[in-house]
Amino acid sequence: MIELIKEGEYALLFWKMPRVNVLNPESVGSFHEALEALLTDDTVKGIVISSRNKEFLAGADIQTLQQLMESADERQIYEASWQVQKVFLRLESGGKPAVAAINGSALGGGYELALACHYRVAVAAPQIEIGLPETTLGLMPGGGGTQRLPRKIGIMPALELLLEGRRLNPWEAHKLGLVEVLVEKSDELIEASLRWLHSKPRGSNPWLEPDYSLPGGEVHSQAGRQIFSVTIARLREKTYGNYPGAYHCLCAVYEGLQVPFLEGLRIESRYFAKTLSSRTARAMVNTLFIGRNKLLELPHRPADIAPAAISKVAILGGGMMGRAIAYVCAAAGYETWVKDISETVLEQARRFSHDLVEKALQRQRLSPQQAHQQLSNLHYTLKYEDLSGADLVIEAVFEDRHLKASVYQEVIPFIHPEGILASNTSTLPISSLAESTGIAPRFIGLHFFSPAERMPLLEIIMGKDTSPHTLAWSLDFAKKIGKVPIVVRDSRGFFTSRVFGTYVREGFRMLMEGVPAALIENLARQAGMPVGPLALADEVSISLMYDILRQTEADLGVSLSDDPVSYIGKLFVEELGRPGKKAQAGFYEYPSQGQRKYLWPRLKEYFPSRTVPTSEYSELIDRFLYVQVAESLRIYQEGILQSKTDGNVGSILGWGFAPFTGGVFHFIEWTGEKTFRERAKFLADKYGPRFLVV
Ligand code: NAI
Repeated sequence: MIELIKEGEYALLFWKMPRVNVLNPESVGSFHEALEALLTDDTVKGIVISSRNKEFLAGADIQTLQQLMESADERQIYEASWQVQKVFLRLESGGKPAVAAINGSALGGGYELALACHYRVAVAAPQIEIGLPETTLGLMPGGGGTQRLPRKIGIMPALELLLEGRRLNPWEAHKLGLVEVLVEKSDELIEASLRWLHSKPRGSNPWLEPDYSLPGGEVHSQAGRQIFSVTIARLREKTYGNYPGAYHCLCAVYEGLQVPFLEGLRIESRYFAKTLSSRTARAMVNTLFIGRNKLLELPHRPADIAPAAISKVAILGGGMMGRAIAYVCAAAGYETWVKDISETVLEQARRFSHDLVEKALQRQRLSPQQAHQQLSNLHYTLKYEDLSGADLVIEAVFEDRHLKASVYQEVIPFIHPEGILASNTSTLPISSLAESTGIAPRFIGLHFFSPAERMPLLEIIMGKDTSPHTLAWSLDFAKKIGKVPIVVRDSRGFFTSRVFGTYVREGFRMLMEGVPAALIENLARQAGMPVGPLALADEVSISLMYDILRQTEADLGVSLSDDPVSYIGKLFVEELGRPGKKAQAGFYEYPSQGQRKYLWPRLKEYFPSRTVPTSEYSELIDRFLYVQVAESLRIYQEGILQSKTDGNVGSILGWGFAPFTGGVFHFIEWTGEKTFRERAKFLADKYGPRFLVV
């Protein structure tokens, strides 16, 4: 687990765990033992800590965390954290200079170990991540991170990193003072570390000294008071108190920096224990770490099919979605072709990728060679002939089934005989699109989310005739482009669009019931949704929702006049000419040039509002969440979703369903099954069967 090498009067200590370097009771124990041996050996004058694995140290072992969350009480969690604190403190105050030679990612507990050293050298490589991202999983640092980082770089920059959970690349980490020196190549790492030791540095950190003062001002300096009053307000504005981990992290910094360092570490461990005991930490770790990683292992992949042989990808349509999908494919190393009917669109698509690569280059997220390679993987064309031999074609033309049918006919002769054809449609049933192609077994839905270059989810939709081979290739493709795939069976709106639609509709209903628009938007965010339903309708475009409704009516031969989209669509699209953000007019007004959008003032004329007592707020909040959970349960019962993990992960990564609850199904556990059922029944009795849970 730990390898020790003597190098003259210095010792090199390497982490090398069988799979990945993590902190758990055994590994911390081994590290402690090795450390003690070095600290008590008079011939050792300094220590270099590094790793033989790809990563430096990935942080706490999630299984250990999970066990603590499931079975331990706050006292036991405190003790577990304190064990780690003690070892790090021993390293820091053992009297021998120690340097962290960061050869790979150092996240969470990994970076906390580096912080307890007296110097940090890192390899400047884009794939290396450094930071304390615990709050993004509903957790907080428990190995000294909240105490050492602000003491090292100042309260303000430390709080930004801690509360946003930012993962920095080595250049950013260096600029912000998280590492002292960068080296170009990994074989220079040990040499640079030894060079520092040769300079005979002191084996101590400044905050252990009696005359230490915090960079940027103490907690109760004028600057400090300002920082905390603003940060607490911002955190509240962003999280509505739904994330105890972030709040506890802020408390640990505030309280811990007013007392001696050792006491600060104890305060951190106490808040860490409180955080891990919360239902939110359990929910987020379950879904965003364990569930997400499970999906990355491709559990739905048919086992007996050879890995996908995809090298050339063609995207039909270089619009908003197509250009971003192309960027992602080129970044993954595929030869990527974008085909459109408009030269102007192709030029915009080219600019889009060019600008993104340029930005990544400036931020040193890509090396110049990688940037060059990525751009040279991209090709733009007006001719189908150029797509010849494509192993995967992804169609992203307008949402019009007739247009889609005709582009399929045109492209099919150019697809490799084993290749697959996918549609990025957000609503049209895949089996119905496959019908006209004549290659239904090789047809599948690959539903990306906007903005596709950033959104991590890929919803894969199996048509009724889609073959296992096509599914296997699609899953391999998802993995290669770095997306988390969920697999669903075909239906109108699949899983994501269908559930997300219920959220927007609930907002429409509230508006029609006289709930003021601003209250709707605020309560939705308080419920944990990233964007209010009216703002979201504008983003997606009201006219698109209305078109889809009418298309559904035509396809099914029914009238859907009781769907709120019918009323809202007619009013906003046909009568008011306010179809959404694309037209700079929808529920919101979009003033030009950097000013913030605001709700259209005349909304009140069309939707006279009533006074809503504050006692009704929690009911409105619940309506937003319960309507989505009830719909998800129906989708699961209909067999469209095959696993609840897909639903939990998909709902958070796809449209941002209240992450602190762990997703649409975990919501039930988070609430408590009995409370959930009673509340759902109450809402169903009062508002109708959309809340019904069987
Ligand atoms: P868009 O309107 O931005 O782009 C469509 C593009 O298709 C245009 O550039 C157009 O020139 C091109 N096109 C039209 N006929 C063509 C042909 N015969 N051959 C090649 N290109 C042709 O539309 P957007 O938003 O990119 O949507 C595309 C598809 O992606 C739709 O099916 C939509 O439902 C789906 N989608 C959209 C999402 C969104 O947030 N906008 C999210 C997920 C899926």
